[in-house]
Order: sequence, then structure tokens, then C-alpha cells
Amino acid sequence: MFVLLHVRRRQHHRSRRLLGVDVLDRGIAEATISISSYRVESPGVEGVGLRTNQFRADNLDSGSFSRVAEEFLLASRISRWDREFAISVMDYFGDPMIETYGKLDQDTYVEGDVLDLPPSSVARMAVSEAIRQRRTRRYYTGDPLHLADIAALMRDTAGITGAGDVEKSNGDHVRYWYRAVPSGGGLYPVELQFVALNVRGLDRGVYRYAPRRDQLVRTGDAETADALVASVSTPEDDLNPEAAAGIFCLIGHPWRSMRKYGPRGLRFVLHESGAMAEHMHLVATSLGVGTADYSSFFDDDANDALDCDGLSRLVLHMVLVGVPSE
Ligand SMILES: Cc1cc2nc3c(=O)[nH]c(=O)nc-3n(C[C@H](O)[C@H](O)[C@H](O)COP(=O)(O)O)c2cc1C
Repeated sequence: MFVLLHVRRRQHHRSRRLLGVDVLDRGIAEATISISSYRVESPGVEGVGLRTNQFRADNLDSGSFSRVAEEFLLASRISRWDREFAISVMDYFGDPMIETYGKLDQDTYVEGDVLDLPPSSVARMAVSEAIRQRRTRRYYTGDPLHLADIAALMRDTAGITGAGDVEKSNGDHVRYWYRAVPSGGGLYPVELQFVALNVRGLDRGVYRYAPRRDQLVRTGDAETADALVASVSTPEDDLNPEAAAGIFCLIGHPWRSMRKYGPRGLRFVLHESGAMAEHMHLVATSLGVGTADYSSFFDDDANDALDCDGLSRLVLHMVLVGVPSE
């Protein structure tokens, strides 16, 4: 029993390093041997301690491990005649929700320093050319970016780009604000934070982009930025975040969508973060700035750094930006 517990603890410790893909790690080899030697006599899959994702995929019919990701796919389906879904969505067309939409992310009061953004840098190429040229850039020179470049990336990813007036039952109108990316139900459940590491005109720290104000709100200092960088799990040879100008963090608020759409809303949150990342890549390419999607961060560390609880508010994705060295 003691040996089993010991092995489990070691397994947990090693799994935190697996994303570094240190396949020759002696510890993993030792753990594998130890676990295999405690295999139960049955040849079933439950007799194996260390389970890779390939092992799970190859033994889908065993029924002996959790399949939560697929449960989510099933739970987030929309079916014909689903009255609960229809009534929940209908609620968002009534007067109280029309008022709420009008106030979405209004940011009347903000905590933290508020900073103005300069005019955005101007794209140097057509969208079709940016699509052709876009490539993941994982290595950066360490040179700073201009705040005007960051402003362009923020506005073209999360900025307000239009408005429309919606009528309430009494004939009054409420103004809705539309943004650069499409959003399931127009709820905009993904917030944009920027971890500034090396940007001219911006102190090292963390900043939230406030769309309705088109301003930055400082939410963390240099120490917060360091904590976020430390959540990056990839070895430095594969990517050099310290030489990047900054890291965009896409923060999801699942219940903003799930309150209206149930589990389906979570799909919308993920779609939106993908759309935002793609806008960022194309705008960056058009400005000669390098970007890399980065999803191999340690979730608990990243959430802790940005004061997210990991459920009602969580780091969904990161995009590194910098002066590309390749
Ligand atoms: C959702 C997502 C997550 C990604 N995460 C990482 C990552 O953690 N580390 C990394 O080096 N590249 C990451 N990438 C970049 C891919 O490796 C890259 O897009 C792919 O190799 C294709 O290359 P290209 O972007 O240059 O066309 C990610 C891409 C996507 C779409």
C-alpha cells in the first residue's frame, strides 16, 4: 500500500513536467517500471497504473475510465423540441435582458489605474496577403514593441466596431455595442488581458482591455507578470516567452454564455476565443509582428497569477507577441 501511494505521488509530480516532453526523463522510466511491477493479475486495462492518452483512446470500450470530454459533447447538443433551451434563450429577448445587453462591460467604475491607448498602427497588407503569410513565430529578438501595435491588436480583437438600437416593449430603444469578433448571442464572454513584458510606453505588468472605454485598466504589477510567465510549461529551447513583448491572455466567463445557452454556451466561449486569436494573428502578420498560440500553460498557475478561480473565470488561451527573430 505504501509503495502504491509513493508511486502515485511521484506520478503526479512527473505529470506536471510531461508537457515539457522530456521523454528520456529517468524518473518517468522508473515510475513506469514501478507501476508495471504492481499491476494486478488481471490483464484488463484497470491493471495498468500509468495511462497515456493513446492508451485511453485505444481502450475506449473498457468503461474503466472517465470520458468527461465526450460527456460534454453530448450534454451540449441542441435537440428539436428542447423546451428548456428555447425558453431560456427567449428570456434574453425580454426588456430586462435588453437593458442588461446595453450595459454589458460598461465599466462605469473600474478598480486600478486607467491608461489611454494611442492610435493603432496601420496594417501594411491586405487580409488575403496576411492569411497567406501568417505563420506561428515562437522566437523573439527581445526588442520592444510599440504600444500602437498592442493597441491595434487589442482593438481588432476585442474592440467596439459598431452599434445598433434594439426596441423594448414600451417603444424605447437600447443601444447594443458590437465588436471585432462575432459572439454567440452577442454576450462577449471572453475578456482580453495583456501581460506586458517589453512594450515601449507600458510598464511591465498586467492590463485588462476595457472595450467600452477603449482603455487599459492595470490589474497587476511586474510580480504578477512574472508569475504568469512562470506558468508557461514549454522548455525555453522550444519557445522564448521572456524575449516576447508580451502575452495576451484570453479569459473566459463561461456562465455569461451558459446562463442563456446551458452547456452549449461553453462551445460558444471556446469558439470566440479561437476567433479572437485568429484576428490577432492576422493583424500581427499585417504589422510585421510575430505571434504564437500558446495553450501548454499550467492552468492552476496561470489562473492563480491572474486571480481567476478556474471555473467562473479562467485562462482559456494565450497568444505570445513579439518582434520575430526567424
Ligand atoms: C489551439 C492551439 C494551441 C496551440 N498551442 C501551442 C503551444 O502550446 N505551443 C506551441 O509552440 N504552439 C502552439 N500552437 C501553434 C501550432 O503548433 C501551430 O499553429 C501549428 O504547428 C501550425 O503551424 P502554423 O501556425 O505556423 O501554420 C497552437 C495552435 C493552436 C491553434
